[in-house]
Amino acid sequence: MAARRAATSSRSTTVRFSSSFQQQAAASTNHRNKALVATTAGLIAAVTVMQQQESNKTQNLFGKSAKTAVKETEEKFGTYWPRNIMILFGPPGAGKGTHGPKIEDLLGIPALSTGDMLRAAVSAGTEVGKKAKAVMNAGGLVSDDIVVGIIRDRIKEADCKHGFILDGFPRTLAQTKALDKMLAEEGACVTKVVELEVPDSVLEERITGRWIHKASGRSYHIKYAPPKSMKKGADGKPIAESMKDDATGEALMQRKDDTATALTKRLAGYHNETVPILKHYSPNGIVKSVNANQGMDGVWGEILAALKRASA
Ligand code: AP5
Repeated sequence: MAARRAATSSRSTTVRFSSSFQQQAAASTNHRNKALVATTAGLIAAVTVMQQQESNKTQNLFGKSAKTAVKETEEKFGTYWPRNIMILFGPPGAGKGTHGPKIEDLLGIPALSTGDMLRAAVSAGTEVGKKAKAVMNAGGLVSDDIVVGIIRDRIKEADCKHGFILDGFPRTLAQTKALDKMLAEEGACVTKVVELEVPDSVLEERITGRWIHKASGRSYHIKYAPPKSMKKGADGKPIAESMKDDATGEALMQRKDDTATALTKRLAGYHNETVPILKHYSPNGIVKSVNANQGMDGVWGEILAALKRASA
């Protein structure tokens, strides 16, 4: 995916350069400029020919086009290799939503957040959303049946063919056993659990200072990751109307369960029901702990190390 993006971007850079170059050529009137333009045009033509030759070489490798070779490799991975199934683990505010999308980009597999899926169901007013709404706002756990059902359906989708990252699931031992069972049915299993370790004492500040962009899930923090638009009032607090998404300029919002009261309940649920899951997976040697009580770059560096194979 990243390679495809890089290729597209370099292609569009070439096109942008050529077109601005053509404009420049049209505007040039004096002879010296014309000569310079002609020389530059020659250079561009030569580079284009060389790029084409390189491309032909790749196409002739193994007697098939690069596109076909990539497709065949993808099919091989999708058919014969085990799926990469990771769990991003940690208490509310640990940084799962902050780092999940970056892991998604790195590995090219989707991050599936049960919290996001449930919030979408609440917004859409579906049956699942109606059942989940009050429990979520109070910081409780939605029933195992509902979340297991959501995940069971989601991981059958095509984008999960090579694997997926679970954010916020499983959260109880019952969900863990259901996950193991559904994966075992296809001969798969959880391949890595990345635990973000943060003491409870720092989480209230993180949770109550969080603002999110609802459409994209982008997460901001009034102190640690403020949006560019943020303005503070005389009391030193951010002015709600100034909180806008950096990318779209749309209004940011605070989650209904991001209160100190709901956090107490969420943390109790985490310690009592979710932490025992680590013991369940530890004997397999797949649990990697990361110190998430440091700057975001430091956390990301440790996550990268945790994702690598021991031999890499
Ligand atoms: P969910 O949406 O999963 O919430 P959560 O697990 O409580 O996690 P959060 O999203 O609050 O935290 P995060 O780790 O993503 O933190 P973030 O990266 O944003 O679940 C919500 C609810 O849905 C549950 O309570 C439950 O009711 C229900 N639910 C979901 N799944 C369920 C399941 N499987 N079973 C039953 N019920 C389920 O970071 C937080 C803030 O800190 C941000 O502002 C960020 O900018 C900042 N920050 C991040 N890292 C750092 C850092 N290193 N330094 C400083 N600030 C940082």
